[in-house]
Amino acid sequence: MLVSGGGTNLQALIDAQQSGLIKNGEIVLVVSNNKGAFALTRAEKAGIATAVISKKELGSQDAFEDKLLETLKENGIDLIVLAGFMVILSKRFTDAYPERILNVHPSLIPAFCGEGFYGLHVHEAALAYGVKVTGATVHFVNEIPDGGRIIMQKAVEIKEGDTPEVLQRRVMEEAEWKILPLSVEQVSAQIKEKKA
Ligand code: GAR
Repeated sequence: MLVSGGGTNLQALIDAQQSGLIKNGEIVLVVSNNKGAFALTRAEKAGIATAVISKKELGSQDAFEDKLLETLKENGIDLIVLAGFMVILSKRFTDAYPERILNVHPSLIPAFCGEGFYGLHVHEAALAYGVKVTGATVHFVNEIPDGGRIIMQKAVEIKEGDTPEVLQRRVMEEAEWKILPLSVEQVSAQIKEKKA
């Protein structure tokens, strides 16, 4: 699991594992690029191993990705989930895990996605455009930001008077926290089947 911030999507996955919704995989490691991420506290509370790999401290994207690849290998990771991870990964990295990296994005791709569209900015853009429906997408990650094959999407209504913060919360509650655990379970089951 790669995280950068609050980690509510990570929490949804931890809860899904505890409730038995996720049964074909196990959260082994949570890596953050930011040592202050509350997501790390959530992982520690759930007894999951954590690591911090800082791009700033390592000095370059290549050094950051080398360290990340090494850590994932050491831990025998089969599936990488970007759960609010705010670093764009290079082709070199995504090629090392073809259809083995999932991302959750807070819009209906191909709307409001790609470079610069992350976190609250996505909801600001949706409100500025005036769309009446938005949502969330879980997709595989390749070298194109938000460009990999779509796994699941869920629509969410925009309401009169929504602020970016209110909309973000609704998209999380109604869409992200539901389709991310379902997608992780679906892909984990496929990986398990291939291995068997
Ligand atoms: C989530 O809304 C996630 O979809 C978004 O950031 C938020 C992280 O929240 N991710 C992106 O915008 C990626 N392009 P969280 O840390 O509470 O899960």
